[in-house]
Amino acid sequence: MKKRFITIAVDGGAASGKSSTSRALAEKFGLLHVDTGAHYRTLALSLLRRGIDSVEKFAGAEDPFADLALGTCVRGNEARMSISGSVPDDSEIRNDAVNSVVSQFAAIPQVRKFLFDYQRGQVAVARDNNFAGLVMEGRDIGSNILPDADLRIFLTADAAARQRRRAAEGIPDSIAARDKLDSSRKTAPLTQAAGAIVIDSTFLDLSQVVEKISEMIREKLAAEGE
Ligand code: CDP
Repeated sequence: MKKRFITIAVDGGAASGKSSTSRALAEKFGLLHVDTGAHYRTLALSLLRRGIDSVEKFAGAEDPFADLALGTCVRGNEARMSISGSVPDDSEIRNDAVNSVVSQFAAIPQVRKFLFDYQRGQVAVARDNNFAGLVMEGRDIGSNILPDADLRIFLTADAAARQRRRAAEGIPDSIAARDKLDSSRKTAPLTQAAGAIVIDSTFLDLSQVVEKISEMIREKLAAEGE
């Protein structure tokens, strides 16, 4: 029998543990890890470099996406989005300048539309590169990008715990402000998709969260094998 290809959506607010959880699951099960937050950050960086640093400037630009060709670079288990052939370093997309505009740009329907096909297309990238499946993290993966995913997880943790985690990483970030914008926007807001499994990690460490989801993955794979 052909081996099962599994798709996992991991959504949650800022610093809810999506990235570390998704990375660990990808390693454990041989999945391709796709961080859609990095897509929004990379696109925000390109817009900033074009002098577009506000929603008003975006609206005033004739063709804000002119010549922005999206590509994928697979490094180990990670899929990184390239724009016009280059993948920015983490330090270029995780800093105050990008943090302060990314959620505003992410609320623009045109921006989300620009990334939609690319993000859905990552399933094919995972298949073409012979991964056992894909774990995609973001805000609207289970609700919008991969509503048909085999597992849809929604990670939560109380705001103080999330702020502490981000501070411990040594990265200054306005997570409360981004969460507010992400939850209140009209297009594909941060929301718990119907049928998603909620995991509150306030009192769980990374390995406990990973184990909980691993158990669900094993169940899915076993059910398929029957
Ligand atoms: O690192 P953190 O979880 O705080 O954020 P991120 O996943 O890197 O995402 C950065 C920003 O991109 C979020 O605050 C959202 O505004 C936006 N985003 C989104 O709108 N939809 C997604 N699927 C992923 C990110």
